[in-house]
Amino acid sequence: MKKLAVFASGTGSNFTAIEKAVRSGQIKAELALLVCDRPEAPVIDKAKACGVPTLVLQPKAFPTKAAYEQVILNTLLEKDVFFIALAGYMRLVGSTLLKAFPSRIVNIHPSLLPSFTGLHAIEQAIEAGVKVTGVTIHYVDEGMDTGPILAQQAVEIGDLDTLEAVEARIHEVEHALYPETLAALLNDY
Ligand code: GRF
Repeated sequence: MKKLAVFASGTGSNFTAIEKAVRSGQIKAELALLVCDRPEAPVIDKAKACGVPTLVLQPKAFPTKAAYEQVILNTLLEKDVFFIALAGYMRLVGSTLLKAFPSRIVNIHPSLLPSFTGLHAIEQAIEAGVKVTGVTIHYVDEGMDTGPILAQQAVEIGDLDTLEAVEARIHEVEHALYPETLAALLNDY
């Protein structure tokens, strides 16, 4: 069974969706590790509650990004991790990990890329007045929310929609689209 690691910094609703999909057999992989860069992030308890090993680091504690990523890489190699899914990991992946996992790191972003990269993508879409936004899953490269697109799904924005309402619909789409896309990528191996 191929081993999957999830990287997350926050709430972890996508982590939970992926974990459920692994447990149900939709994604044919073992969820071998959660990597988290924020010791206070709620995703850590979610992983612990379902028995997924965690690696929690403080990036500030390392002299360089390469040193921080080298510690992550050592653990990934130790655990024989094959594939990485970023799920709300609020940090650019550096060359240490990109070189070690070529075309084996994917990310989920709450907009129809290439529109609205970076932070607060849902707010950016609402402020821009677009009527359709959505969710993108893409391979990770050295850029911010760049890299070849694997899957996209649209979410409409109504004239009277609140940020919370759009966020809720985006999350609903994410929680189905990410497991489906990971299954399509991993189940072939
Ligand atoms: C998601 O909207 C994802 O697209 C973005 O960060 C958010 C993470 O949410 N990259 P959660 O922590 O999985 O609930």
